[in-house]
Amino acid sequence: MRVVVLFGTEMGTAELAADAIADVLMKTHDVAVYDMSDYDVDDLDIRDFHVLVCSTYGSGDLPTGAEPFFEQLDDRLPDLTGLHFAVYGLGDSVYQDTFNRGGEICAEKFSALGAVQVGEHARHDASASFRPQQDAREWAERLPVPAPA
Ligand SMILES: Cc1cc2nc3c(=O)[nH]c(=O)nc-3n(C[C@H](O)[C@H](O)[C@H](O)COP(=O)(O)O)c2cc1C
Repeated sequence: MRVVVLFGTEMGTAELAADAIADVLMKTHDVAVYDMSDYDVDDLDIRDFHVLVCSTYGSGDLPTGAEPFFEQLDDRLPDLTGLHFAVYGLGDSVYQDTFNRGGEICAEKFSALGAVQVGEHARHDASASFRPQQDAREWAERLPVPAPA
């Protein structure tokens, strides 16, 4: 199964995590990594497994670069039935009320369009001592990539 890793970032941490996840998954799968800011919703293919790696900005908002992708989703409302995805979210627990909302918004939007989330919903905490690349790598090793339909 092809794996498409989509990252949404403001300062680059989510891209580092996305690359770490891709490094793990490419041992067993064909993997492509894209910045959400360069990705067109029409290119979503329900046969691919999608890994959404997304940080949080503002007051629990998506990173600026990810907003056009989600605006396209809201406008076009593609039917994502049959698409499987996993989420690696990034945030900082100092933002108590909005901790890791970016990844949660990704999961909510994809689920609302019929897609199915698999695996553990990761919530990296920038205030924790574990580094995002190492944490993302370990998460990817535990990720149950679905078998092709
Ligand atoms: C201005 C600003 C606002 C932020 N707002 C939130 C927030 O509301 N919730 C949260 O969990 N993290 C928040 N964060 C933390 C970032 O999501 C976190 O540092 C993340 O690792 C950054 O990833 P990136 O470099 O890929 O953008 C904020 C960071 C900044 C600088």
